[in-house]
Amino acid sequence: MASDSARSGEYGYDAPYALIGFAIAGMVAAAGAVVVWRNTGAVVTPPLVVAVFFWLNAASFLYTTRRGKFEEWERILDELHLRGDERVLDVGCGRGAVLTAVARRLRTGRVTGVDLWITRDQSGNAQEVTLRNAALEGAAERIDVETGDMRALPFPDATFDLVVSSLAIHNVSSNAERARAVTEAWRVLKPGGRLVIADIRATRLYATTVAALGATDVTRRRLGWAFWWGNPFAATSLVLASKA
Ligand SMILES: C[S@@+](CC[C@H](N)C(=O)[O-])C[C@H]1O[C@@H](n2cnc3c(N)ncnc32)[C@H](O)[C@@H]1O
Repeated sequence: MASDSARSGEYGYDAPYALIGFAIAGMVAAAGAVVVWRNTGAVVTPPLVVAVFFWLNAASFLYTTRRGKFEEWERILDELHLRGDERVLDVGCGRGAVLTAVARRLRTGRVTGVDLWITRDQSGNAQEVTLRNAALEGAAERIDVETGDMRALPFPDATFDLVVSSLAIHNVSSNAERARAVTEAWRVLKPGGRLVIADIRATRLYATTVAALGATDVTRRRLGWAFWWGNPFAATSLVLASKA
C-alpha cells in the first residue's frame, strides 16, 4: 500500500459550506440552551442534544475530508492491483487527492485529471493548486490536468485503462446529467478497462447506467465510517464496473 502519510500536498475541504453549516447549527443550538439557562436557570436537554448532534456531524465530516477519504482511496486503489503502466482518468479531480494517489502507483503510466475547479465543491479549488500538489508529491511528470466538463469529456473514445471519480458526479444538478457524466466516463474507457466511482448520492443510478451500457461485473457497496459525511445517512458508496 502506498502510504497515506507520504502526502505532502494541501487538499482543502470538500463542500466547505456544508461543514460550516454543521458547525454553525451546533453553535445556534448551544446558544439557545444558554439563553434558556440564563433566563430561567433551567438546563434544557433538547437543544444540547441537537448541538452535540451537529458537532458530531461536523467532526465526522472534518475527519472524512481531511483523512478518511485518503485512507479509503488507498484501500480502493490497493484492491485494483495496478500494473503501473495504465492510462488513468480522474473525473472531477479537484485538488488531486485521488490523482496523486494514483500517480504514486504508476511507473510508466500517466494519470489525467479533468475538472471545472468549482470552489463551492472544494475549497481553494484551482488547476494551479492541483499542479502544485502534483509537484509536492513528486508525481508531476506522471500527471496531466485539463479543464473540462465531465458531461462532455474532452477525450476520444477508448482512451483510458482506468477511470476513477471521487465525490464529483453527484455535484452535477440532475440525475439525467449524472447519467450523462457516467456515460461519458464509459465512452472514454478502453475495452478491458475498469470504472471506479466513489460518491455519496445516485450510486444506484451509476450502476444501472453502466449495466445498460453493457458493463460486466458491476458491483456497488457502502464504504465504512471513515467515508461518512457526518452520519451513516451520508455514507459514501463505491461502484465498480468492467468494460468487456
Ligand atoms: C467534492 S470535490 C472532489 C474532488 C476530488 N475528486 C476529491 O475527492 O478530492 C468535487 C469536484 O467535482 C468538480 N466538478 C463539479 N462539477 C463538475 C463538472 N460538471 N465537470 C467537471 N468537474 C466538476 C468540482 O470542481 C470539484 O473539484
